[in-house]
Amino acid sequence: MSRKRVAILISGRGSNMAALIAAAKAADYPAEIALVLSNVPGAGGLAAAAAEGIATATVDHKLYGRDREAFERAVQAELETHAIEIVCLAGFMRILTPWLVSRWQDRMINIHPALLPAYKGLDTHERALADGAARHGATVHFVVPEMDAGPIILQGEVPVLPGDTTETLGKRVLEVEHRIYPEALRMIATEYRLS
Ligand code: GRF
Repeated sequence: MSRKRVAILISGRGSNMAALIAAAKAADYPAEIALVLSNVPGAGGLAAAAAEGIATATVDHKLYGRDREAFERAVQAELETHAIEIVCLAGFMRILTPWLVSRWQDRMINIHPALLPAYKGLDTHERALADGAARHGATVHFVVPEMDAGPIILQGEVPVLPGDTTETLGKRVLEVEHRIYPEALRMIATEYRLS
């Protein structure tokens, strides 16, 4: 079995990254985490990845001012250096332009803490609570130029319980994220062969 070379792009603590790294330790997992890249120098997830012996890179968007494409060219260069085949966005807090997204069509996925198409964007738990939603959850989807809008790969649902706060609801959703992201990556990294 040839394992797909995966890059995880993060901006923060990287708990979804850690879930993907843990899953990829299984001998039968169809992907290996070959690179963790952050746009934020010193992001917590970088140290965790390095401690696992995974290559890390930082491309600080602040060094590129308003030139999003120059930032993305630097990201793309890292992805090419590490011969990456699939990109997982995991708490990566930069909006990507069509320049990069089109290069990774069907090979770049994201996790979003809501049941898309509900609650695109930020503060999803706050908005679900404010609406009195009965159910909430997380979605793994392909990345397209429009934010949080690509085809859905997998969703996981949780109930919203009486007395929930953004913290208790967010924690329940995060547990689902950690379950569905490795499963979604397994799905898209798997090559079915007839022979
Ligand atoms: C997660 O809730 C993810 O769904 C969202 O950003 C958060 C990142 O958390 N896109 P972590 O860095 O994976 O812990």
